[in-house]
Amino acid sequence: MRVLVLHGPNLNLLGSRQPEIYGTMTLAQIDAAIADAAREIGAEVRCEQYNGEGEIVAALHAAATTCDGVVINPGAYAHYSHAIADAIAAIGIPAIEVHLSNIAAREPFRRTSVTAAACRGIISGLGPAGYVLALRALAGIQGG
Ligand code: DQA
Repeated sequence: MRVLVLHGPNLNLLGSRQPEIYGTMTLAQIDAAIADAAREIGAEVRCEQYNGEGEIVAALHAAATTCDGVVINPGAYAHYSHAIADAIAAIGIPAIEVHLSNIAAREPFRRTSVTAAACRGIISGLGPAGYVLALRALAGIQGG
């Protein structure tokens, strides 16, 4: 199983960005934990981070022919990017949306995810463990 893990805008600042909300792990540390879990599961994982909406759309298009599934934290784009939602729907491989924080318990504008509707499922509020759970969920969907 080949999986693209896509981190959206501002997630490159993890570790120092509002640690009371997003925790103290850096993105590099999170990606290392994802790589460990991938080895355990026997998955081939590539982690990428983009701040731009178009870059995320392009990465999703590329995943359509190179990956079996996607784990995506769209960051704030989750709340309004119909372009990213359309791209997830268009590529036809399963995607799981992950949020470090519990978006249902935050400001009203964060309580809606327009991208989640295009995903198979959403994991929100469980911190970095959410990425590992999403990988396991994709393995389950692939029958592994
Ligand atoms: C986030 C939640 C979003 O509302 C926010 O804009 C982020 C991070 C999360 O992982 O909790 O950038 O996606």
